[in-house]
Amino acid sequence: MKLVLCEDYEEMSLKAAEETVNLTKANPHCVLGLATGSTPMGMYKILTRMYREGRADFSRVKTFNLDEYYPISQDNPQSYHSFMDKNLFSQINIKKENIHILDGMCKNAEEECKNFEQLIEKTGGIDLQILGIGTNGHIGFNEPGEYLIPQTHLTYLSQSTLNANSRFFKEGEEMPKQALTMGIGTILKAKKILLLAGGMSKRDIIKQLLGGEITTHIPASMLKVHKDVVLMCDRAAYPD
Ligand code: PGA
Repeated sequence: MKLVLCEDYEEMSLKAAEETVNLTKANPHCVLGLATGSTPMGMYKILTRMYREGRADFSRVKTFNLDEYYPISQDNPQSYHSFMDKNLFSQINIKKENIHILDGMCKNAEEECKNFEQLIEKTGGIDLQILGIGTNGHIGFNEPGEYLIPQTHLTYLSQSTLNANSRFFKEGEEMPKQALTMGIGTILKAKKILLLAGGMSKRDIIKQLLGGEITTHIPASMLKVHKDVVLMCDRAAYPD
């Protein structure tokens, strides 16, 4: 795992955006794996700015998102469909048919997950996967536990994720207890992975990740077996 230490969140977001845009320039048909949450928001803002300034083109780019709550309708403001649309897709020139996000209202989750995996394969695989990390070490919604599931699947959210993500839901709004997520194997198949971590709240898990072993209790530690992972973190998230 290569480390890129950034001064602050802004610098980390800028570097991540530049890395993404450089890939789209080298390969305009590239396939991006995208994440939601607070972490990539700065990067998405910069990608939007670069597009507006004519420095980025997403017209032939394809995307696959890591996960989606279940059940949740696409137009629910808390869905990851809404998040992506608001924070990135509606702001850039990506084609609707090139965007792939798991359907949080699907009737048959198993089939939905299988089709998603097949579609990733059919496009030639993910060239660059953007990841955040949960304070419990999860990536996507692959939660810590006795075992991890390789393929895209339906899962229960851990109590720590429910607590961490409840901040996005208003009083009285029910938060889904399950999610559809790429599996650890799906993530590890990406050609390159960019793991982003910003802020004090991530310092402890980054310390465990850097210092520790590969364990299913820290799902992000699985990334250590991949040959092209960059951990980009700001000073606040980096343990002294
Ligand atoms: P965050 O979430 O970006 O909102 O901190 C990261 C994650 O849970 O994967």
